[in-house]
Amino acid sequence: MTLIRFGVSIEKDLLKKFDSFIKDKAYTNRSEAFRDLIRQELIQKQWQGGQEVAGAITLIYDHHKRELVNKLMDIQHEFTDMIISSQHVHLDHNNCLEIIAVKGSPRQAQRLADSLKSVKGVKHGTLNMSTTGKGI
Ligand code: NI
Repeated sequence: MTLIRFGVSIEKDLLKKFDSFIKDKAYTNRSEAFRDLIRQELIQKQWQGGQEVAGAITLIYDHHKRELVNKLMDIQHEFTDMIISSQHVHLDHNNCLEIIAVKGSPRQAQRLADSLKSVKGVKHGTLNMSTTGKGI
């Protein structure tokens, strides 16, 4: 990979804020932080553009609610073409954490995440939008 250096003009105040952001995020230098921000935008574009994407859905729920567990399973079985793997962690006596890795169309990933999150009794659900790594 060829690295290219280029100059960036930026307002003093904005740079100050950027440096403080970098410090908070534990970046070692501005270049790496800048590269990550660009990648973040490109990934956002992949999601909006309908290209193949990868991501992770996390769910927190109480496994005592049997109907809820069955429903989550039913939904996942409808999306076997896009679910790469799933991991179930028993957090404590009541709560479970489920991490579902997905790859496929952004719209389908969003639809799967929405379907799972909206099941009654799911305490929290997130979709982490990432990339297959291609084109980034
Ligand atoms: Ni569990």
